Amino acid sequence: MPDRGFTPTQLAARAAYLLRGNDLGTMTSAAPRLYPHMWSWDAAFVAVGLAPLSVERAVVELDTLLSAQWKNGMIPHIVFANGIDGYFPGPARWAVSDLAAHAPLGVETSGITQPPVHAIAVQRILENSRRHGRSTRAVAEEFLDRRWADLVRWHRWLAHARDLDGNGRIALYHGWESGMDNSPRWDLAYANVSAGEVPLFRREDLNHVADPAERPTDGEYARYLWLLEEMKVARYEDDALAKTMSFAVEDVFVSAVFSLACEVLANIGEEHSRPNADVRELYGWAERFRHGVVATTDPRSGAAKDFDLRSGRWLTTDTLAMFAPLLCGGLDRQAERALIRTFEGPKFCGHPDLRYAVPPSTSPVSGAFRPREYWRGPVWPVMTWLFSWAFARRGWAERSNMLRAEGLRQASDGSFAEYYEPFTGEPLGSMQQSWTAAAVLDWLG
Ligand code: SER
Repeated sequence: MPDRGFTPTQLAARAAYLLRGNDLGTMTSAAPRLYPHMWSWDAAFVAVGLAPLSVERAVVELDTLLSAQWKNGMIPHIVFANGIDGYFPGPARWAVSDLAAHAPLGVETSGITQPPVHAIAVQRILENSRRHGRSTRAVAEEFLDRRWADLVRWHRWLAHARDLDGNGRIALYHGWESGMDNSPRWDLAYANVSAGEVPLFRREDLNHVADPAERPTDGEYARYLWLLEEMKVARYEDDALAKTMSFAVEDVFVSAVFSLACEVLANIGEEHSRPNADVRELYGWAERFRHGVVATTDPRSGAAKDFDLRSGRWLTTDTLAMFAPLLCGGLDRQAERALIRTFEGPKFCGHPDLRYAVPPSTSPVSGAFRPREYWRGPVWPVMTWLFSWAFARRGWAERSNMLRAEGLRQASDGSFAEYYEPFTGEPLGSMQQSWTAAAVLDWLG
């Protein structure tokens, strides 16, 4: 299957070895140098990769993350590893333990959130546990008992605190919350953020990549950090953020992920006899957010849009976000077919110059496309994984297998890069990225 480099067996062994190397004890760093802490959605994908290796260790990963859950239900986007420097902004800059009434005790976190993919990890843990004996199955089931209420609380916080008018779309107050930091999706919303004076800072990220042009620009960072100052003034209070943040968008991709995650969690709840009221509520959110996503779509192309709450404008860019309805469903047949054709056609996976037939973060035919710049164009293996997983769930086995095969071909270079240049296949960003190894492990598991 690989066109160069490692065989599947070698690749799986290397991926497992990588996760061992990034293991800090009870958390896996997202990457050894660039991201030396635990990131929320990284942790979920890492747990997906750990599950076939050790259900027990995968459970520890999610336990660590959930132990840092805020009292209002939010799962923070970073859980800081004790005593590890080298990442900015760190705990002192966020200052959540001083300012945020909801911050957890005894653990340092950031003050924003990230995409809610965690139910997928819980499902993979339960599925993997079934291949083992009674004691491993018991570990997974005890985890579900112990954390069910926390998982529902997390979803409830998103459905309430981040969907104020109940339209089925999640509001974000920082591009980092989308996970796709500098995606051109957010250019218009950021154009309206006028960064004031921020306390002095020195970027650490640029020390850890081969070329600074692979990372967001200084101008982008000035705005990212300005938004932190706005959040601190609001003391990270949900109501205050909604009113005062100068960046506020409805993220259609996160909304689709949330709808899907609610359905996955509801299915788990049904299978494992969780309270009916919880299961009903989860199915209700799955439905509400599916509608919220579909309501943004173009009736012909099926493409979804984000919304800028501050300027009142729709944000249409040819990025992965336009495919949100393929994750959560809900389009009529014709629109869905059209959207799949776009995904597989020359604007995305079928672009004739791509090295591998996997979706770039931004369409290569878009004016906003930059093939080496973080979320402005490169291919992110974890996104390939997410689409291939979601397509399998939707019953599209062939499409799912195609992405898996191409994703594995790309990964066979063994660098486990954070992202890749779409035309040359050059690995970019961080090497040894945990979630890239996790995707490979799940694919080969
Ligand atoms: N992805 C961001 C970074 O690059 C933070 O979430 O540091």
